[in-house]
Amino acid sequence: MSSQQSDFERTPGGAVLMDGKRLRDELIVSLRSTIAAAGDPEVCLATVLVGDDKPSQVYVKSKGKKAVEAGLQSRHVGLGADSTQSEVEAAVRELVEDPGVHGILVQLPLPDGLDPEPVLDLIPPEKDVDGLTERSMGRLVRGKLGHAPCTPLGVMRLLDRYGVETSGRNAVVVGRSTLVGLPQVLLLGRKGADATVTLAHSRTSDLAAVCRDADIIVAAAGIARLIGAEHVKPGAAVIDVGISRTEDGIVGDVDFDAVQAVAGAVTPMPGGTGPMTIACLMENTYAAYGMMQGS
Ligand code: GUN
Repeated sequence: MSSQQSDFERTPGGAVLMDGKRLRDELIVSLRSTIAAAGDPEVCLATVLVGDDKPSQVYVKSKGKKAVEAGLQSRHVGLGADSTQSEVEAAVRELVEDPGVHGILVQLPLPDGLDPEPVLDLIPPEKDVDGLTERSMGRLVRGKLGHAPCTPLGVMRLLDRYGVETSGRNAVVVGRSTLVGLPQVLLLGRKGADATVTLAHSRTSDLAAVCRDADIIVAAAGIARLIGAEHVKPGAAVIDVGISRTEDGIVGDVDFDAVQAVAGAVTPMPGGTGPMTIACLMENTYAAYGMMQGS
């Protein structure tokens, strides 16, 4: 354990608590001073929300609020649930063509009947601060300049901030979504991070044995409390990306109470990877501005 690690807050079982809210706040303060030092350029994040899904409204509002705290401008485009495919595409096209907009985020899912693919395809890689499009994913695979998806990027920031070594370590990513699992494998395994990565999922046989081999577990299967103490090697770092709505409320993929007694470091839920997704969105937006300036 590094001396820095001994300063971190711990769970009752002694695991380091990887506090995403705290790190988000640090990153936002740091981004704000970077932008101020650059002479306060106008850097704009545009969010697009179609329909009136309550959780999506909350997420988008929070993204706009944090953008302003970070010193970015926030523009919001709200479209009714009865919008047509071509109305949504026209709204996104307008943002794509606007040189005053640096980052575009189309909140997903879109209402039933709308196809997200042609909408996302309109966003050029430079403005795709969510890192979700086919072209952004291709750039990530090819190691080209672009934006990585914010949630897996936030996981990498947490590991780094809390002193979790990745190089030469075994990591297991549970879940193979394009939003989290697949890009997470790439980020953990790429040069610089250098982990040896296993991609597990709901059909992996003996998931507990596979996970017990890991120094790092990223749980992103969307299955409530999938990861228990029996999945965790003593001292491993466990990161919870899951979010499921159950009768007990919103729960993650990790059984926090059980796992914190065995793990060396663990994320809380909420307050772990969720806030980090937003912080990384802000960082990507400032990076988008840099890419458009050619710096
Ligand atoms: N819906 C839930 N999470 C996300 C996200 O990270 N990006 C977008 N665009 N939509 C989401």
